[in-house]
Amino acid sequence: MRTPIAEGKKLYVANCIICHGADGTGKMGPTLVGKDLVYPQALTDPGMFSIIYAGASGAMQSFFRRGMKQDQILRIVAYVRSLENDSYDPPPFGSLASDPHALKEMLHCTLCPAPAVTDN
Ligand code: HEC
Repeated sequence: MRTPIAEGKKLYVANCIICHGADGTGKMGPTLVGKDLVYPQALTDPGMFSIIYAGASGAMQSFFRRGMKQDQILRIVAYVRSLENDSYDPPPFGSLASDPHALKEMLHCTLCPAPAVTDN
């Protein structure tokens, strides 16, 4: 298992498993795998990132507001993708996390209103 994915797994187990299940097929929260998602944007990596970052509902709260770092969210997305695709090769994590402008742009084209990007 590639390291970012292994790190993503730890974060997923600690923060997400309770509502989305060990295999990502959902519990109290909806499935994160397959094509039948509540928010079609979650099929893309930036779209899934922005939901985790900004939240989607009362139950699916913003993890940014709870102190989660952008790179941690990227690793979680990588882990969720690896649940469906054994050979998933995560994108270079440094680039997005270290470029607030890229991230801001990305959030604008997904969930609105986009939250202010104030960490790293
Ligand atoms: C307290 C329960 C809870 C926790 C913890 C939680 N979620 Fe959610 N999540 C939800 C609910 C409920 C929804 C559906 C929100 C809606 O319908 O607006 C959701 C939606 C989502 C979606 C959109 C799925 C779709 O079908 O469009 C993603 C992606 C997601 N969550 C990822 C995560 C990740 C990753 C974590 C951990 C960092 C996490 N969630 C933690 C309850 C939770």
